[in-house]
Amino acid sequence: MATSDRPKPESESPPDLMAALKRAGILSEARLGEIRSRVLAGEYPVDPIELARQLVKDRILTEYQARRLLSNRPGGLIIGRYIILEKLGSGSMGRVYMAKHRMMGRVSALKIIAPEISNNERVVARFQREMRMVGKLDHPNVVRAFDADKDRGILYIAMEYVRGDSLGQRLKTRGVIPPKELVDYAAQAALGLQHAHERGIIHRDIKPSNLLLGDDGTIKVLDLGLATLMEADEHASFATADGVAVGTIDYMSPEQACGREVDPRSDLFSLGCTVYHLLTGRLPFPGNSPVERLGARISGKYAPVSGVKPDVPPKLLEVMDRLLANRPSDRYQTAAEAAEALRSIFAPAPSRLAGPQAPDGAPAVPRPAPSPVPPPPQIKYVHVRPKYPSWFQPIANLAERSPAGAFALILGFLGAAFAAGIAAGWMIFSAA
Ligand SMILES: Nc1ncnc2c1ncn2[C@@H]1O[C@H](COP(=O)(O)OP(=O)(O)OP(=O)(O)O)[C@@H](O)[C@H]1O
Ligand SMILES: [Mg+2]
Repeated sequence: MATSDRPKPESESPPDLMAALKRAGILSEARLGEIRSRVLAGEYPVDPIELARQLVKDRILTEYQARRLLSNRPGGLIIGRYIILEKLGSGSMGRVYMAKHRMMGRVSALKIIAPEISNNERVVARFQREMRMVGKLDHPNVVRAFDADKDRGILYIAMEYVRGDSLGQRLKTRGVIPPKELVDYAAQAALGLQHAHERGIIHRDIKPSNLLLGDDGTIKVLDLGLATLMEADEHASFATADGVAVGTIDYMSPEQACGREVDPRSDLFSLGCTVYHLLTGRLPFPGNSPVERLGARISGKYAPVSGVKPDVPPKLLEVMDRLLANRPSDRYQTAAEAAEALRSIFAPAPSRLAGPQAPDGAPAVPRPAPSPVPPPPQIKYVHVRPKYPSWFQPIANLAERSPAGAFALILGFLGAAFAAGIAAGWMIFSAA
């Protein structure tokens, strides 16, 4: 543990670490016994803070666990079948932890739903139904959900842990995303959405923080099936809801904002809002209050991109126009169609490759280096000699060496045969 991370216990004297460890239940009895013996043998320090530091060094505890134990909060490090390892962050619905399955050892992301939401039995029942469908999703662009359960009143979801940042975090730390990169991310998200839509699941909360960018450049759609939980507080209005709806309004489709039935095309509108925000750093429907921002999307068109960011490829503007169309019938009709349109923005059209300028003013697509013209194939001519009868071979040899001589010889032979025929005929005629 770094010195700067030295935990600040709530009380002056840090708690008995061994007792806290036992109460936390995160280590086996055998492991606890081993630590105790090493302390008694003087191999491990007695001081709780020093001991915690040593256990972190030996990878027996994580820094997060050590901090929790030293601040005398050992409870809650075990949730269902999972041991909490680190805190990943928190959102409007609860907190997300990195956790390890106690039996399988698999590391997952564990989302613990806030009690205000998980105490609403009606919403939880609906959520559990939705999670049964979400558990069947299996696509490289969707964060897989492994498990969802309620343990001692705590509702949690265990999902695939993705090493990387959400696009929301990326926007905050590194600013807007260049068009070409963004288009790739949006197309991947659309493919993940298509997979969910085909299985009857609409996301309803597509936004930059729900698109995780893995270290390998893969986008994974997060929080599928969780939108049902946002409806926990029936009385929350957009103006008063604390974060729950407010954080989401900015990416909501007009039909969703009006409380109408939504279909997959609603997610495409949210994807359009997400692309807009990540491209420009601004919201497509700005306003001073949630109600104003909500009203803007219901009644009007989004703020022109050119006013915010002038150098966007026209083809991308066209695609955004379709995604952000007010009426669902004017949008792409499926996420697959949207993915294809996004992919085509920077795809080099074969006929244009010959020209110096890339499609739609985008950075010039490098012309592929002319491949060297292959040399003509080396043909070996083989002299094939027909197989003549042996009596003809000398004539053939003569014909090859001296065609005129052979011709003269044949003429001579024919002449002699003709003369012999005449002579024979003459003799037969005179005898008669
Ligand atoms: N499967 C996961 N793998 C890795 N990190 C995750 C995973 N799920 C969530 N996180 C991280 O946990 C943090 C909190 O996520 P969470 O979804 O709760 O917040 P949010 O998206 O900002 O808000 P909301 O509750 O509105 O979705 C984020 O930083 C996110 O990147
Ligand atoms: Mg989220």
